[in-house]
Amino acid sequence: MPLLCVHTVISASVSFNQEIAPIIYRNCSSCHRPGEAAPFPLLSYEDVVKKSKMIGKVTRSRLMPPWKAEPASYAYRDERRLTEREIDLIQAWIKEGTPEGEGGETSAAEVQFRLAPR
Ligand code: HEC
Repeated sequence: MPLLCVHTVISASVSFNQEIAPIIYRNCSSCHRPGEAAPFPLLSYEDVVKKSKMIGKVTRSRLMPPWKAEPASYAYRDERRLTEREIDLIQAWIKEGTPEGEGGETSAAEVQFRLAPR
């Protein structure tokens, strides 16, 4: 598949707290939280691990984040698409067995705060 050629090779180890959490919280959590359209929350390490297989699938196929529907409440409309590197990081993280990594400790409350419109 020629598309594979543009993918970056990610050799360093990938952890949730270092690489994956910022991608998910910035691009997914605004919909994937209680009260929003998505059917399950993505607000913690546990949430994301539980869905990691599916997340790998839908980000690689670019099904998520959705970019056709434009809910007016969405805070980061223009930044919603994942880069090749972000998609590859998610793939690498799943391949490594979804390690949590050091530091981070991002609480759901903190995520809500970050997502709040300024
Ligand atoms: C604009 C709102 C929105 C954003 C942003 C969003 N999602 Fe979703 N997501 C939804 C909705 C609504 C559904 C359920 C309907 C559907 O499957 O299309 C869903 C469904 C899913 C599913 C289940 C798919 C299935 O086949 O059942 C996964 C996995 C998922 N999202 C992951 C993600 C990930 C990972 C991100 C960030 C990269 C993300 N979503 C960003 C709204 C969103």
